[in-house]
Amino acid sequence: MSDLSAQSIREALAACETGPFGARLEVYPQIGSTSDAARRLAGQGAPEGTIVLADEQTAGRGRMGRRWFAPPGSSLMFTTVFRPALPPDRLYRLVMACGLAAAEGCESTAAVHVEVKWPNDLQIGGKKLAGILPESSLLGERVEWAILGIGINVSQDFSTDPELSQTAISLREAAPSTQPIDRAVLLGRILERLNGWYGRLDDAALLDAWRGRCVTLGRQVRVELSGSVLEGVAEEIDLTGALWLRTGAGERRRLTISEAHILGE
Ligand code: BTN
Repeated sequence: MSDLSAQSIREALAACETGPFGARLEVYPQIGSTSDAARRLAGQGAPEGTIVLADEQTAGRGRMGRRWFAPPGSSLMFTTVFRPALPPDRLYRLVMACGLAAAEGCESTAAVHVEVKWPNDLQIGGKKLAGILPESSLLGERVEWAILGIGINVSQDFSTDPELSQTAISLREAAPSTQPIDRAVLLGRILERLNGWYGRLDDAALLDAWRGRCVTLGRQVRVELSGSVLEGVAEEIDLTGALWLRTGAGERRRLTISEAHILGE
């Protein structure tokens, strides 16, 4: 894992303005899940900006209880600890900040255009590039900590897999250049943008930038909700991250991330 040693990461981060992000850094060749490790560290009082990163996960977790698989050497996978001054119902802003930072970092490293898909995915040309897994601990009305795990497909070749090639893409496949992508450099650029967006969590520009990349808005979508399927046009994503759907009957429905998911994900 030459491009992902603790040394190469520290060098890459030193070249970027990453603020608190990565000041405490744990790098593993192999781990169960970076999010499990970050959750433990957060519970033990680890400072904001702590990052756990691994080249390989043996128990990587995705949304909705799914597993997250990535061969060693193929991906950038890390989890960041936050201690945000946000009310719990505004935590989705962190997902927006991380999504934007990852999109911008990928674009500046690999000359691609990255879209966001509600609620937590990054895509290129409609295929999944990355996923974000947010988790948090609340103390009454206060957020004690939040951790956001992100997995980015960097160098996989999905073209040989007839099924996955329809839905997944890596930066290497999407980039115009055949140059290898240095994951430490990519991390540095993402954390630099994260440092910028994290300072603007309350800024309207965050929502505007996220909406500007969002491929879900304006689309006809099918959403699974408590066992039934709802169809409509995605009209709005509000500050809590909820999706507003206009159904065929003209009714406006507000769907929260925890209760609904878009079919075909
Ligand atoms: C999803 O799209 O379902 C979210 C996937 C999140 C995967 C990342 S990889 C790093 C971190 N550790 C985990 O176990 N999961 C997240």
